[in-house]
Amino acid sequence: MVSLDFTGKVALVTGVGDNLSFAWYIGKALQAAGATVVLAVQPRRLDIVEGFLTGTKPDDVEARALPGGGEFKPAKLVRMDGAYDTMADVKLDEMSDANRRHYSKYTEDYSISGAIAAVGQQFGGIDILIHSMAFSSEITKPLIETSRKGYHEAMGISAYSLVSMVRAAAPFMANRPGGASVVGLTYVAGERVVPHYGGGMGTCKAALQMDAKQLSWFVGDKNIRVNLISAGPYASRAARAINKDFDKLIQHAADHSPLRRPIEPEEVANTTLYLCSPLASAVTGQIVYVDCGYNVMGT
Ligand SMILES: NC(=O)c1ccc[n+]([C@@H]2O[C@H](COP(=O)([O-])OP(=O)(O)OC[C@H]3O[C@@H](n4cnc5c(N)ncnc54)[C@H](O)[C@@H]3O)[C@@H](O)[C@H]2O)c1
Repeated sequence: MVSLDFTGKVALVTGVGDNLSFAWYIGKALQAAGATVVLAVQPRRLDIVEGFLTGTKPDDVEARALPGGGEFKPAKLVRMDGAYDTMADVKLDEMSDANRRHYSKYTEDYSISGAIAAVGQQFGGIDILIHSMAFSSEITKPLIETSRKGYHEAMGISAYSLVSMVRAAAPFMANRPGGASVVGLTYVAGERVVPHYGGGMGTCKAALQMDAKQLSWFVGDKNIRVNLISAGPYASRAARAINKDFDKLIQHAADHSPLRRPIEPEEVANTTLYLCSPLASAVTGQIVYVDCGYNVMGT
């Protein structure tokens, strides 16, 4: 019998911005399955995430409840900015005043390579790496209106960050008992035209998908698997804030999906568990659709 017991596994989870993020549900599911969960959080969101992890309001407490009992308590939170591969990339003088005020106070290495090395060294390795980050400052602009600067920024944070993370984590993930697993999040807009998904984000997801396939080759010899989940639309706080019609979009997808309903974030988390488990030991370089079947439809 193959089990979903992740006891003794170390999971580094990016992309928790609040308690509705896909990564929040993924972190909870991994902890519930026994993993030690470390969150690598966008630097300025660290205090916000800590607030969700310690808040005493009934909603906060309920959001931390683990499937099967217990409370979501990551072993550690570290700052990590997906825009920077090393601290040499950080240019304080090019930041907005607000960002510079915050970033100039951080004393630790919050680059991808620095944050991942710190976690890998402290926890003696990494078994599971979750890439659940995306950003476009021009997401509300259609692709044709998107500036070169905005497009490159979106590609760097939303797509190249996976390459950078896998490079930094590979030494800590190599030849772990039972193998190691990288899981990222993509969207159907990486393969089909979704006009409102602006700022170059569709292109970012297309790049992310091809990068995941290539990365599966480059780390496969170390028994590290790389897969993506293509999730159906889901009203995370960010998604709803960006698009005032997001609920209509979710309804459209639900009406046109074989299962005739929207996805739940727990379904993305459950598929992540599967992909990180021995059940998926020969699955790598794949895009797994958790979208109630929406992607197969022609309407
Ligand atoms: N919500 C949806 O409908 C949907 C559908 C398919 C795929 N996805 C993907 O799922 C992933 C998670 O999105 P979500 O819906 O949970 O929204 P979210 O806003 O909760 O998560 C996005 C995360 O990216 C992080 N981030 C942004 N810029 C960063 C940076 N420079 N460094 C580090 N982290 C940074 C944010 O802090 C945030 O936690 C994204 O890749 C998104 O594209 C979302």
